[in-house]
Amino acid sequence: MTARIIDGKALSQALRTTVAEAVADFVKARGAAPGLAVVLVGEDPASTVYVASKARQTVEVGMRSFEYRLPADTPEAELLGLIARLNADDAVDGILVQLPVPAHLDTGRVIAAIDPAKDVDGLTVTNAGRLAAGRPNLVPCTPYGSMMMLDSVGRPLAGLEAVVVGRSELVGRPMAQLLLMADCTVTMAHSRTRDLPAVCRRADVLVAAVGRPGMIRGDWVKPGATVIDVGINRIPAPERGEGKSRLVGDVAYDEAAAVAGAITPVPGGVGLMTVATLLANTLIAAHRRRGLTAPAFFAELDKRLFGR
Ligand code: GUN
Repeated sequence: MTARIIDGKALSQALRTTVAEAVADFVKARGAAPGLAVVLVGEDPASTVYVASKARQTVEVGMRSFEYRLPADTPEAELLGLIARLNADDAVDGILVQLPVPAHLDTGRVIAAIDPAKDVDGLTVTNAGRLAAGRPNLVPCTPYGSMMMLDSVGRPLAGLEAVVVGRSELVGRPMAQLLLMADCTVTMAHSRTRDLPAVCRRADVLVAAVGRPGMIRGDWVKPGATVIDVGINRIPAPERGEGKSRLVGDVAYDEAAAVAGAITPVPGGVGLMTVATLLANTLIAAHRRRGLTAPAFFAELDKRLFGR
């Protein structure tokens, strides 16, 4: 079997177009565009690229982008002060603090400072707790985008065995919650799981979110399974020239694609969806903060994805 490739480029483009149309309606009705504030502390090269891309795409869909680049040695009190100002600023509907933050900052305290109504990353305990209770508000971007990719395959999820490898707050945990809401039988696997290949082979839906290049091999994949590869790992690629690198996922792509029914590529997969869903979450937050229901497209999408 050769897997169908789940096209993150086309899906994310379609979602951005939908968001842009809804933003235009919002502007017409309210006279102002939704705004997204992105905060980057330090100069991590990958984070710098992600943040620039988020800001560019925010403007492209017609929203306002507020970018804050703070030095790596910014005191925590200063960062918390900025977040408090963004919480109070009515032009800001979404706040994202790019992770990881430098080691002297307490990630938990930083995230906790964000108003849950503006928490477009879905990382505050309020939003994570709501998701765990089956009553989601703002859903973390990468899992949300991954669910949309699964939806595009057109295979009903109810009753399927889903295995999520990785238990991070940003991806693994919320992904497992969303698959549970979609009536999958969910296993969360992690670094202490016994016989991980055998656990993965049970999966009709296999989600890899471990940050280890090519860790999931082709013979870990059940024939016909849908594979969602969340990993974005930069590895040396001397075949492309001296000092060159390339991006690979957590799944050994060629091996897995020969066995799976459908698979997301890296690059061109989940990563593109993460930014598009961030824009969608900002639009949704802009509505809910004002007591408005989110545009019909998102209400219908959530009903289809989460059954509510
Ligand atoms: N770093 C890598 N991915 C993400 C994300 O989705 N949100 C935030 N805040 N930081 C990240």
